Amino acid sequence: MKKSWWVLLLLSVAIMLPFVIPYLTLNPASSRIEVSSRTIQYPALVSHIILAFIAMLAGFLQFHRTLRRNKPSLHILLGKVYAGSVFLSGGLALIVSCYEPDFGRTLSFLFLDLLWLITTAMGYRSARKRDWQSHKQWMIRSFAMTLTAVSARALVPLLILLYLLLHRFALPGGRMGMIEEVLDNNIWAALILNFVIVEWFIRRPKREQVSL
Ligand code: HEM
Repeated sequence: MKKSWWVLLLLSVAIMLPFVIPYLTLNPASSRIEVSSRTIQYPALVSHIILAFIAMLAGFLQFHRTLRRNKPSLHILLGKVYAGSVFLSGGLALIVSCYEPDFGRTLSFLFLDLLWLITTAMGYRSARKRDWQSHKQWMIRSFAMTLTAVSARALVPLLILLYLLLHRFALPGGRMGMIEEVLDNNIWAALILNFVIVEWFIRRPKREQVSL
């Protein structure tokens, strides 16, 4: 695996762990988001988070070239773990999205979720058809959607800075108003950013391409 992938892997784990850990206590009082249902929303949220984290780790391992070439059976097993975790976590995210009170945020989660499920299904289908070129491209797209969860959180400080610059360091809605506006938009910003990066990566001229 190239050095940049190790950096991205460590950064992603470091960014996501502080968000994931409070949910491992299985105590709704530690939830960072408001819990209005302890019987449906909270169990769905915790399961979504654990499965999404597994998908992220399995996804990273799928780009390990030596592992892919020398242990193809492990690549297939991890591929099934990745796809299974995405389908389950993505299904649970549909339920969790319905509990988000803000319409704009719900829309961004639903849109991201559909892209996550569709790109993964396309990757799985092309593997079944043994169309390896298409499989590789769809799985890269699927993983870019998985990493939207990371980019969305990593973008928050930058969006806060942009907000402050655009408002000439005045806070018309107060500090909380600024945070709310940033959190209303960070999923869209990350989704568009990851989409542009991944399409550039897949479509760039062949001689510039470095094999993963
Ligand atoms: C890419 C598709 C994903 C979708 C559509 C999605 C959707 C959601 C939704 C709807 C919520 C509830 C947030 C709210 O109501 O405000 C949520 C929360 C959460 N998700 Fe995901 N998620 C995705 C990927 C991931 C991944 C890959 C991870 C971890 C690696 C993850 C970790 C979390 C965490 C930790 C929370 C709790 C919110 C917080 O404390 O910040 N999600 N997700």
